[in-house]
This record gives sequence, structure tokens and C-alpha cells, in this order.
Amino acid sequence: MKVVAGSSSHRCAKELAGILGADVVGVERKVFPDGEVYVRMLGGVRDEHVVIVQSTHPTNALVELLFLEEAAHDQGASEISVVVPYFAYSRQDRVFQEGEIVSAKAVAQLLELKADRFVTVDPHKEHILGFFGVEAHGVSAVPLLAKHLEGRGVDTVLAPDKGALDRAQFAAKCLGAEFDHMEKTRLSGTEVVMKPKALDVKGKTVAILDDIISTGGTIATAAAELKRQGARKVVAACTHGLFLNNALERLRGAGCDEVVCTDSLETSVSSVGCAPVIADVFEERRS
Ligand code: R5P
Repeated sequence: MKVVAGSSSHRCAKELAGILGADVVGVERKVFPDGEVYVRMLGGVRDEHVVIVQSTHPTNALVELLFLEEAAHDQGASEISVVVPYFAYSRQDRVFQEGEIVSAKAVAQLLELKADRFVTVDPHKEHILGFFGVEAHGVSAVPLLAKHLEGRGVDTVLAPDKGALDRAQFAAKCLGAEFDHMEKTRLSGTEVVMKPKALDVKGKTVAILDDIISTGGTIATAAAELKRQGARKVVAACTHGLFLNNALERLRGAGCDEVVCTDSLETSVSSVGCAPVIADVFEERRS
């Protein structure tokens, strides 16, 4: 087995290779003056099971992944597994308005062309795995995030909305904490209002857990409301930290005492490596 470290997922790829006892294949990557992407795999993969690790954000990273799959295929890999810790384009998981496409399906159909298997971490919605015509796995980083939060005295784990309650419930169970959800109304792509929630957080340490922090609007609004209600400490945790438009500053300014995410996207607060839960998929296949 060889693990190819795509440019957006170096850290995760190296940790995964370490766990699986596989060699890492580096990638030379350039962007031409016209914006086109060039990739070259720096190691042979003939007759090997190749595991390519590459999140698909930003869009050039998706192009890079498609090229790496092509390279592994052309060089005679015996099997190709595609690990996409953060699956960008998966939030458009259905047609909301006439004329739209389901981008999660469109990208899945591209990724499966040269792949035998797909693995992602905390997909926004589980049903997107059904868009793949090959074996597809969604693993959860919530146990790893919960482990990271151990020892911080978390009393309450909150989902920012009802849809995210399962993750909060699972983390709360790991931490022996209570759980609940906030009530959110989204006004626009960047504006969110939280309806007051009848929840007693006074004097408590609260962890807010979401799958994605994008602009930080959702969590910032929740954190400010929780602090207003007297929460002692607010920790914001997510699997995928995009942190667009100075989101980290926004979150801290809104009252988040700590922000943590996984390395599905490599950021300054990616304190949790998601390789162990990805490795489980491959370990299970071996046993
Ligand atoms: C939405 O369904 C997701 O779970 C997140 O709540 C959302 O992507 C967060 O976006 P933002 O950080 O821009 O509020």
C-alpha cells in the first residue's frame, strides 16, 4: 500500500501512512501562469494499492485529486482508494431550486471514474455517499473531537441547530455532559439569527459542535447568545474548519474561548488529526 499526500492533506496523509505502515508518495504541484494545475507523483505505484488523500477545497485541490487518480491509474496501481477528508461541493446535496444541479453527485461521478473506493469524514449529509457508484464510506471525527475536549470540564454540548443534534448527543455521551440544540434562522449566506433558547447555561462550560464552520456566522451568533445567558466558557468545535472572511477573529470576538477543528482542512486550530478514524476503514478490510 502507498499513500499519496495531496497538497491539501499532507498532515492527514502522513499520519494515515504511519498508522497503516505504508510508504508516503510525495506530489510535485505547480500552478501555471494561466491558473492551470500541474501535478506529478514522486514515486512508483505499479501493482500497489494506492490511497490518495486530498480534501477538495479549494477547487484547484479537486482538479489535483482528479489528476492524481489519473496518474495512479496510468502508472498501473492495482487498486485506488480516494480519501477526501473534507468533501467540498457536498453541501449542494439536492436540487433546492429548478435549474440547479446536485454538485455532490456531479463531483462524486468524477471522483469515482478512476477509483475503487471513496472515504470521507463527517459528510454534511449521509445520503451523498449513495451518489457514488463505488464503495463509499463516511467516518466520524466526533469521537476524536470529544476526546480532545476531555478534561476541559464541558458541562453541555450544544448543536447549533436541530439537524446537528446527533453529533452533539454523541459527543455529550463521550464526555458525560448534557446536550441540546440552539434554534437558528438563516437570513442570508452570511447572516444568522439565533432564537432565544430556554436553556440554562449560566456558569457552565459549553461546547458548540458543528460539522462545518464556514464564515463562522452560525457559531459566533450562538456563542454571543450563550455568553449573554451567562455561560462561563464557550468552546467552538467542528470537523471542517474553513474559517472564511476572518472567521477565527469573529469567533473570538463573539466570545469563543477556544476554537478547535480537525485537520480535514489544515488550519492554525487543527488540533485533532482525523487519520485514526480513516485508518479504521482500511484496517477493517485487512482483518
Ligand atoms: C450548515 O448546515 C452547516 O452545518 C454549518 O452550520 C454551516 O455551514 C456553518 O456556516 P457558517 O460558519 O458560515 O455560519
